[in-house]
Amino acid sequence: MTIEKKNPIRVAIAGVGNCASSLVQGVSYCKQMGDKAIGVSFPDLGGYAPSDIEFVAAFDIDARKVNRPLGEAIMAAPNCTATFCDDVSEHKAMVRRGPDLDGFTAFMRNQNPERAFQGSPEPALTQAEVTQVLKDSNAEVLIIFLPVGSIEAVEFYVQCALDAGVSIVNGIPVFIVSNPVWAKKFEDAGIPILGDDFKAQFGATIMHRTVAALADMRGVQIDRTYQLNVGGNTDFLNMMDGDRLAMKRESKTEAVQEAMDARLAGDDIRVGPSDYVPWLNDRKVAYIRLEGRLFGGVATNVEMRLEVEDSPNAAAEALAAIRCAKIARERGMAGPVKAASAFIFKHPPEQMADEEAYRQMVAFAEGTTG
Ligand SMILES: NC(=O)c1ccc[n+]([C@@H]2O[C@H](COP(=O)([O-])OP(=O)(O)OC[C@H]3O[C@@H](n4cnc5c(N)ncnc54)[C@H](O)[C@@H]3O)[C@@H](O)[C@H]2O)c1
Repeated sequence: MTIEKKNPIRVAIAGVGNCASSLVQGVSYCKQMGDKAIGVSFPDLGGYAPSDIEFVAAFDIDARKVNRPLGEAIMAAPNCTATFCDDVSEHKAMVRRGPDLDGFTAFMRNQNPERAFQGSPEPALTQAEVTQVLKDSNAEVLIIFLPVGSIEAVEFYVQCALDAGVSIVNGIPVFIVSNPVWAKKFEDAGIPILGDDFKAQFGATIMHRTVAALADMRGVQIDRTYQLNVGGNTDFLNMMDGDRLAMKRESKTEAVQEAMDARLAGDDIRVGPSDYVPWLNDRKVAYIRLEGRLFGGVATNVEMRLEVEDSPNAAAEALAAIRCAKIARERGMAGPVKAASAFIFKHPPEQMADEEAYRQMVAFAEGTTG
């Protein structure tokens, strides 16, 4: 099918890590492969293809990424995700030096520097300067791919976006779109936003939700469950710092709780990142177990093991979220884009069953609902 080409979607990135690498590669991959691209969520969304995205600005703090064109920076260590598109030279926007704030912690400074972040000696841009970069580059959407627990850093970039009139796509579990205070600021400013925390294309959350909903539909009583996740990228390394995990655990746990007819007691559900295994690099392994009772109170249990490359799994949904932000801007929408946020993110302002969120998001993209 030929998709009618509209103007490009101008995107800035905060955090040029593994997810950003897969996202940037993904745009070139879709351009180069056309109809033969594999695994694309929504090849056409409201007339937009993933290849309509153009990266116009980027921010990071790492010496190996700052002051390099985006196409080079995404391939720099400690990024370790799969290279599925070799030619990314078209992405020439320079990575600018953002402030460390709580994105670069004492914990990360004390890790093996080859596998952790290394601060750039460049002076960091101020809030006014980041805002100006967003304005000068005519960015329409800022996607946030900062480390888990970076509350100050996320709020810094979100404020810059608000001041520059730019939409937010918040990929991480710092609550912005699902926080009524931030949501109202964007609503008042007439800017649409999507978030929070990507629900990966074929990840542990969607698997867990699907099996839990299936058990409910078949009348099985769920008694307890866990989802243990291990991986070897910097996201998993950073999440070994337990103090930063509160919102990640809440986001992942609520995504499962909300998919079930009856909530489980706190001690009967455990969901979250569980360990860092360096040699896994960007591979993530999730172990999911549900225990329950069938007809007559007879015990049952199910176990699943999912293995995925972590970052392309998020990038697939990022490509959809960015296009939804553009569509919402064209329609003059303001504040959270609710159905798309419910389908694409773990912690949206309003949770919905996945099938319902899918139906409403497609209707939104086709212009048959708001
Ligand atoms: N992979 C998935 O499926 C998935 C799903 C949902 C959410 N996420 C979240 O997406 C985020 C990004 O994941 P990732 O794997 O790309 O992480 P990453 O560690 O590879 O990348 C983070 C990047 O942010 C940079 N950074 C740190 N502080 C900064 C600051 N103050 N300003 C600008 N840049 C800064 C780092 O240098 C690094 O390049 C994480 O919070 C992760 O939990 C990922």
